Amino acid sequence: MTRPRSKIIGHGAYLPKTVVTNADLSSKVETSDEWILTRTGIRERHIAAEGELTSDLAAAAARNALERAKLSASDIDLLIVATTTPDNTFPATAARVQAKLGMTGGAAFDIQAVCSGFIFALATADNFIKCGQVKRALVIGADTLSRLVDWQDRTTCVLFGDGAGAVVLEACDSGIAGILSTHIHSQGEHYDLLRTTGGPSSTGQVGVIEMNGKEVFKHAVMNLAEVVDEALKFNGMTPDDLDWIVPHQANRRILDGTAKKLGIDPAKVVVTVDRHANTSAASIPLALDEALSDGRIKPGQLILLEAMGGGFTWGAALVRI
Ligand code: ACO
Repeated sequence: MTRPRSKIIGHGAYLPKTVVTNADLSSKVETSDEWILTRTGIRERHIAAEGELTSDLAAAAARNALERAKLSASDIDLLIVATTTPDNTFPATAARVQAKLGMTGGAAFDIQAVCSGFIFALATADNFIKCGQVKRALVIGADTLSRLVDWQDRTTCVLFGDGAGAVVLEACDSGIAGILSTHIHSQGEHYDLLRTTGGPSSTGQVGVIEMNGKEVFKHAVMNLAEVVDEALKFNGMTPDDLDWIVPHQANRRILDGTAKKLGIDPAKVVVTVDRHANTSAASIPLALDEALSDGRIKPGQLILLEAMGGGFTWGAALVRI
């Protein structure tokens, strides 16, 4: 029996209106446009307005994706929101998004794998589709990391932004397009290298982001190169087969370092980190939406999605558009 394949039939994005530049930040903490740009490649980031919630960003991106897919929310059986910044500790932000979209059936839940969240959510939805339990899934990456940042800490506050991106997956029985494979990994021994300082069961407070930047950088380049290699080998392919890489956008130097380690032409890497900064689970679907919308990524092309985040977690997905 051939199993159905998950095809991306819609994509959408949402970025909050307020743009904060490096110059704006340098008036708040001791930093400079030059430092931020050379160390990270970031020029500016979007920050959610007061009262604008992760679920608002997620619902806006989802509506955009549903519109492109020419579907309504009632056509969806499964809604997954990858987020680290839920509206409330519970229920799942996905439940709120479900209500905001007017979707009354199906199942909705969150996935928490920090910056790798979108890949983990995509892998989950893909497996539900492959086993025949779901026909159409809405996979959203949405985060308001600005709410987890200590705005006095120059080592972290310059790195993050807010946003949301979404894709609609549909089970298809024939053709070559769709998700070819997903690969996810975790290594909990590195829990403390990138985390928040609190949580519901430890301090009762959400805490702020704290990380060992150098260690994160080192593991990111190594783990990402390994998982890209794993995805390509699994499909009997080489880096030359790839048309585009759509990576998690943490830092320009991580993007360049990973491409170099794999011998991939940097021109094949979709880059949004300069304008979005690190939007955590939202960064891949935001970059994907941009490159699909402006026509860089074309039907039939082979794209590789990859991410690494706190946990550590990391993963990749190989997709024929
Ligand atoms: N402006 C000016 N100076 C700064 C700033 C800033 N915003 N931040 C740190 N500095 C200073 C430090 O205080 C330090 O000063 P000192 O030498 O007087 O002590 C100096 O710059 C160098 O600091 P380092 O931490 O050594 O800088 P490094 O070159 O490692 O760059 C960075 C820091 C950009 C965070 C880097 O380690 C990195 O990119 N790490 C990856 C982390 C990441 O991207 N995390 C995101 C989440 S994980 C993910 O998505 C994959």
